[in-house]
Amino acid sequence: MDFSPPTCEITHIECVTTLAYALCTSVRGLLRGALEMDTATSYLGLPLSHPFMAGACPLGWHLDSIKRLEDSGAAAIVLPSLFEEQITLAAERRVRHMDPFEQEFAGALSSYPADSDYALTPDQYAEHLSRAKQAVKIPVIGSLNGTSAESWLSFSRIIEQAGADALELNLYEVVTDLDTPGAAVERQLCHIVKDLKEVLKIPVAVKLSPFFAAFGNVARQLDAAGADGLVLFNRFYQPDIDIKTMTAVPQVELSTSAELLLRLRWLAILHGRVRSSLAVTGGVSAPIDGIKALLAGADAVQIVSAILRHGPSYLSVMRQGLERWMEWHKLPTLAEVRGRVSLEGAPDPAAFERANYIRVLQSWKC
Ligand SMILES: Cc1cc2nc3c(=O)[nH]c(=O)nc-3n(C[C@H](O)[C@H](O)[C@H](O)COP(=O)(O)O)c2cc1C
Repeated sequence: MDFSPPTCEITHIECVTTLAYALCTSVRGLLRGALEMDTATSYLGLPLSHPFMAGACPLGWHLDSIKRLEDSGAAAIVLPSLFEEQITLAAERRVRHMDPFEQEFAGALSSYPADSDYALTPDQYAEHLSRAKQAVKIPVIGSLNGTSAESWLSFSRIIEQAGADALELNLYEVVTDLDTPGAAVERQLCHIVKDLKEVLKIPVAVKLSPFFAAFGNVARQLDAAGADGLVLFNRFYQPDIDIKTMTAVPQVELSTSAELLLRLRWLAILHGRVRSSLAVTGGVSAPIDGIKALLAGADAVQIVSAILRHGPSYLSVMRQGLERWMEWHKLPTLAEVRGRVSLEGAPDPAAFERANYIRVLQSWKC
């Protein structure tokens, strides 16, 4: 009698069982590892279960995508910005200081979007925020985008009343006036933050450009002005030139990890030296980038391009990547990760930066 088929069958069953057992064990191992890793962090005084949050982007315009972001594991969400220009137009029929009915401003105003091009009016924005708050449990951060210390800032109170957990203030500006000195720009930023802190109870984060002669001092001034968080850095949507039409072509391109390095440098320099929390935005494209930002000193990691590219579920990929890495390195809490590769302990950070610069240039071999 040939017993080989049943033997084979038993072997097959055994194999399946062994495989299933191995799979269960490793899944359990993974889960156990994942559960043991404490990824909790605090950003702007808000407790977050992990540092990966959705930055300001169009996904925040729709309640269903906001819910999807939460379901996909976002620790918090920043809504897209309401612009100073929209607020002044709605409230005072002017765009910044320009009256649309005055001929002298016609040229400058023609490059702004029409009223109807904005996703929401200021009132609708407040209503949307309030609905978003009711729809999800994670913190919802409102975003204002502007540069003048004027009446439009009072809209921040409406954002607060709508239920925002915090406000992110994007101070995006390209200073083209050749008579404006850097110190005047810096004073203006601090003025805005102080004004906001006087009227708001919710925390205020400031999203900044890196283009200051002494960014560290700007960070310190904003910290002293009361900024609860600094978001490093705004990406500049730099127009290209079309040589066929000889015109400037504005464009939005999603970021890559190459943009992260500037952020890592400043996170590492600021970590432990300012009271404000630190968030990174720009160039976090994969779990390894998020881990680097945390090692440099970020309290929170904002992600936009990666979730526009791969979908909201990429937030869980980021979190799982961090947990596995922490497990591998036997670092059970985020506190043991954050700032581990910062300049906090460096006796002379400027000398360290300069020495590295010289070493890197000297290392090139022809
Ligand atoms: C399509 C798009 C829309 C954006 N809208 C806003 C916005 O309304 N307010 C804002 O502060 N940043 C906005 N950003 C910038 C992002 O919040 C983020 O700072 C930037 O994309 C860098 O992060 P990333 O490298 O993860 O994409 C937008 C970015 C993109 C790609």
